[in-house]
Amino acid sequence: MAVTKEQVLDALGKVAAPDGTPLPKTGTLSDIVAGEKVFFSINVDAALAQAWDPVRKRAEAAVRAIPGVQSAMVALTAEKKGGAPGARPQAAPGRAGAAPRGEQGPQGVPGVTSIIAVASGKGGVGKSTTAVNLALGLRDLGMKVGILDADIYGPSLPKLLAIREKPQTVGGTRLKPIERHGLAVMSIGFLIEEETPMIWRGPMVMSALTQMLREVEWGTLDIMVVDMPPGTGDAQLTMAQQVPLKGSVIVSTPQDLALIDARRGIAMFRRVNVPVLGIVENMSMFICPKCGERSDIFGHGGARREAERLGVPFLGEVPLDMAIRETSDAGLPIVATQPDGPHAKAYRAIAQKVRDQLDTEGVARPAPKIVVES
Ligand SMILES: Nc1ncnc2c1ncn2[C@@H]1O[C@H](COP(=O)(O)OP(=O)(O)OP(=O)(O)O)[C@@H](O)[C@H]1O
Ligand SMILES: [Mg+2]
Repeated sequence: MAVTKEQVLDALGKVAAPDGTPLPKTGTLSDIVAGEKVFFSINVDAALAQAWDPVRKRAEAAVRAIPGVQSAMVALTAEKKGGAPGARPQAAPGRAGAAPRGEQGPQGVPGVTSIIAVASGKGGVGKSTTAVNLALGLRDLGMKVGILDADIYGPSLPKLLAIREKPQTVGGTRLKPIERHGLAVMSIGFLIEEETPMIWRGPMVMSALTQMLREVEWGTLDIMVVDMPPGTGDAQLTMAQQVPLKGSVIVSTPQDLALIDARRGIAMFRRVNVPVLGIVENMSMFICPKCGERSDIFGHGGARREAERLGVPFLGEVPLDMAIRETSDAGLPIVATQPDGPHAKAYRAIAQKVRDQLDTEGVARPAPKIVVES
């Protein structure tokens, strides 16, 4: 039977705030997304966030104990009152770094050497497909790789990697990533139903991302690939700021319209001082499977020219090919399932370039020692 909001509030009535008030009476709770998976946030004054973290944990445990609840995710948000739209939301100390990027930057994820974003200004250009195959290409270079689906509005890793199981919890609160083709995988799609309306406010979405970075047992990773939501709005900008990114990979199709958006994406990462590792041209050309003739459906070479113009590296091109679409949509990514084919080779070459770029940026060095606040 579906779990209702009232049941959730009832369970939360037994959880006390730091001053002893029952949680539902504190006025800190967001809208509650109820069902088999429960999701809500506790919004508190940034200065008190540390004191509230145990409350968050108890709230999560109380909700998880309701019969019928499969998973519960409770985020602690500390909104800056009167902040400008798109202003960086403040999370609990020790979670997302509140310091501006630069010398300090957002706090790294312990055990993870480099985190890179795969992004595009425009939706549907093949970003998720590229993220998965790039991650597998990096794996083929001998790296230990994780992939995080940060596309909170349209998570696609469960589909692209045919994952139907839910991640297990370790010690009641931390999640274990799911292993697929040697990748450690985490997606917000594991925690929410596809039909769940996206009613959460921006800061809550941010906390969910922060939790997926910091409350998941990622283990030791050489690189984590983050599949970003499309676009260059406030949500994406905030993500680019909050995730301790070592670089970004921009995916674009060759036509002008997509390139305009790609340019916006590059500008966004530059604005937050994240190095742009380069551009990938996806759906670069079409080779007819019947006659072998090549057609440049969206034009060809646009992304390479744009990369030159903007002074960012060109990482390679991937053709528009039925085999890529079919394997991608069937959850059998082509680098894993046809490792000797030409497409796997193209993705591996892109992966090599990404690694070279990371080396050039001087960021593939061992991660700095990070002190974790608990
Ligand atoms: N090179 C390619 N050849 C053929 N089909 C492709 C290629 N790249 C991606 N696709 C297909 O295009 C569709 C969109 O791809 P994908 O989901 O990776 O895009 P996206 O940019 O992540 O989209 P969104 O903006 O919705 O997150 C999918 O059906 C995918 O299989
Ligand atoms: Mg996608």
